[in-house]
This record gives sequence, C-alpha cells and structure tokens, in this order.
Amino acid sequence: MLVTSYLWVKAAHLIFVIFWIAGLFMLPRFYIYHQPTVPGSVEDKQWIERERRLRSIILNPAMIAVWVLGLALIWINQMNGRPILTEGWLHAKLLCVIALSGYHGWASAYGKKMARGYRPAKDRTLRLMNEVPGIATAVIVILVIVQPF
Ligand code: HEM
Repeated sequence: MLVTSYLWVKAAHLIFVIFWIAGLFMLPRFYIYHQPTVPGSVEDKQWIERERRLRSIILNPAMIAVWVLGLALIWINQMNGRPILTEGWLHAKLLCVIALSGYHGWASAYGKKMARGYRPAKDRTLRLMNEVPGIATAVIVILVIVQPF
C-alpha cells in the first residue's frame, strides 16, 4: 500500500517535471521571436499574452507541484527508514533544482520587462540562456538515476 502510494507520488512528480521543463524550453524561445517586435504593436501584444499564459497556466503551477511532490518524496523516504537526506546525489540535485528555480525567476522577470517595452538582453544571450534547461535536465536525470555519489 505504502509502496504503491510512493509510486503514485513519484509518477505525479515526473509528470509535473515534464510540464515544467517543457515550459522552460518554450519561454526563452518565445522571447527570441518576441524581441524584434515593435513595443506596442499588435504582434508585441500577442507575444505578451502568449508568454503570460505560458507562465500562469503551465510554468508556475508545474514548478510548485514539482517542489511539493519532490519534498513529499523526501519526507516519505525519511519516514520509512531511508535517510535520503544524507545521500550526496540528492544534495547535488537540490542545488541544481534551486538553480533551475532561479532561472525560472529570471525568465519570468525578463518577460515582464519585455511587456513594459524593454529589450535588455541581446539575442545571443537569450539563445545561450535557452540551453540552461536542457543542460540542467541532463545533469539532474543522471544524478537521480545513476546516483553516482
Ligand atoms: C524541485 C525539487 C525536487 C525535489 C525536492 C525532488 C526530489 C525527488 C525525490 C526525493 C525523488 C525520489 C528518489 C528515489 O526514490 O530514489 C525524486 C525522483 C525523481 N526526480 Fe525529482 N525532485 C525535484 C525536482 C526534479 C526535477 C527538476 C527533475 C528533472 C529535471 C527531477 C527528476 C526526477 C526523476 C527522473 C526521478 C525518478 C528517479 C527514480 O525513480 O529512480 N526531479 N525526486
């Protein structure tokens, strides 16, 4: 019973991880297309609305769900005699997810600046930032599956 519930929580965790990362892949890509539009134009307003919906319908709820379910997995392990909080790979993973949450914050703030008519980052910077979720996903998945330390 307990094992089955644990697996359901883990499945839900992974479903929301996929939503969160998919949203993080899309948002900076939207910014790359949004960047050249003239502030106040019809196209600018369409991108602002698409970005707002992506943030409020997918990104923010998915990030919260990943955190809540991930912390629940830690709690269930701790309660069932596996002191997971002493494992090195989990410390490294937590550092990566804190950094990824910071990236989420940066990306959300950048969209709000664009909505006010600013374009502070160069195209090249946005393209480089676009690589962050992919690299973070690869590192985190290796940490949780291989558990190298
Ligand atoms: C946001 C904070 C997060 C916390 C607190 C957290 C915590 C956890 C915990 C405790 C487990 C169970 C590990 C086990 O049973 O051995 C787990 C499973 C997993 N997590 Fe997370 N996680 C978080 C975010 C993420 C993210 C962002 C990703 C991917 C990019 C991810 C990918 C996975 C995968 C693939 C598993 C399954 C591992 C397995 O079954 O062997 N997690 N997570």
